[in-house]
Amino acid sequence: MLEHRRILLVIGGGIAAFKALDLIRRLRERGARVTPVLTGAAEEFVTPLSVSALAGTRVFRDLFDLTDEAEMGHIELSRSADLIVVAPATADLMAKMAHGHADDLASTLLLATDTPVLIAPAMNVRMWQHPATQRNLDVLRGDGVTLAGPAEGDMACGEYGPGRMSEPAEIVEAVRARLSRGPLAGRRVLVTSGPTHEPIDPVRYIANRSSGVQGSAIARALTALGAQVVFITGPATAPAPAGTEVIAVETAREMMAAVEAALPADAAVFAAAVADWHVSGTAERKIKKGSGGIGALDFAENPDILATVAGMGAQRPALVVGFAAETDDVIANATAKRARKGCDWILANDVSAATGIMGGTENDIILITGSGTEDWPRMSKDEVAARLAGRIAETLG
Ligand code: C5P
Repeated sequence: MLEHRRILLVIGGGIAAFKALDLIRRLRERGARVTPVLTGAAEEFVTPLSVSALAGTRVFRDLFDLTDEAEMGHIELSRSADLIVVAPATADLMAKMAHGHADDLASTLLLATDTPVLIAPAMNVRMWQHPATQRNLDVLRGDGVTLAGPAEGDMACGEYGPGRMSEPAEIVEAVRARLSRGPLAGRRVLVTSGPTHEPIDPVRYIANRSSGVQGSAIARALTALGAQVVFITGPATAPAPAGTEVIAVETAREMMAAVEAALPADAAVFAAAVADWHVSGTAERKIKKGSGGIGALDFAENPDILATVAGMGAQRPALVVGFAAETDDVIANATAKRARKGCDWILANDVSAATGIMGGTENDIILITGSGTEDWPRMSKDEVAARLAGRIAETLG
């Protein structure tokens, strides 16, 4: 699936560099030709010899190597690939990329190139969450750089959180999506998924029921057609789809902020079951059972993410798709919802208990567009996703 695709792999200096070895192996197994570039710091973690052995080719390391320059100058090297992959992309490499530094071979190649770039960030959770890194990330996104990960999990440093490099199999999936020649190649699509959790106190929350199965399936189907998918998910049980940029949030307000930060996009699919309210004045400490009960909770309305995005001016994606989970008068309610929210399409479904749709593997959709309604036969959530992705591809043209 990656036959004859040329990948320039920049390996940054982080503990995750060892995973780059497995990444090289997997890329080559799929037919890609990998040219590795090691930063000075990366050589502290993996040896040029092991990288070269796995890549089946020489490793580029030094900006001022006369032999290298005679063989292939750094400008030529930077443009000799179909895709540049930076894995691990350390905080330092990301900062250099965002600011246009060119003080070693890796950063110079990244500045000299007009080839698409995909980065797999890897760093300590605090470094990832630091405003400087997040600022750099915004700049890089604006420059058209795509992300694979980072994932959330245990870190080599003993902490837990986002910043862990995605697994090689996921990076391969992202590479495949970025190089795809599918009908949605070059299109950026945003997908929200899962529930949101609205805290009452540090241990309790209110939420809507949502497994995230349909949202994940939609993101996968869009990726399969070549779209670059930004997957913004609340705490769902379904695994996040490989090959997408995953942004994990908890509350509706965080989801709104993440959606705004991820724009612009060509299309947006709002499959999340967003809580309509949050508890105002969340308790900072756990409310104790013996202390006279929980008392009445005050609620404040959450932003309507779908309506907000559908109502945007220049930032509005060309196609805005929402869902309507209804228990009765499905068509009438969903048609009214489409008008009220200002979106282009609504996928309506009957989620009353008897249908078994909620948390199940099948869905029964009525698609409502500006030109009427379309009753889809009951099918698996994967098939719904594939059909929707196909329609999106057709519409964006
Ligand atoms: O109003 P209702 O929740 O039924 O609308 C459902 C649609 O609106 C879904 O597409 C859902 O993702 C989206 N929505 C949203 N923000 C909210 C509430 C719903 O994006 N606060």
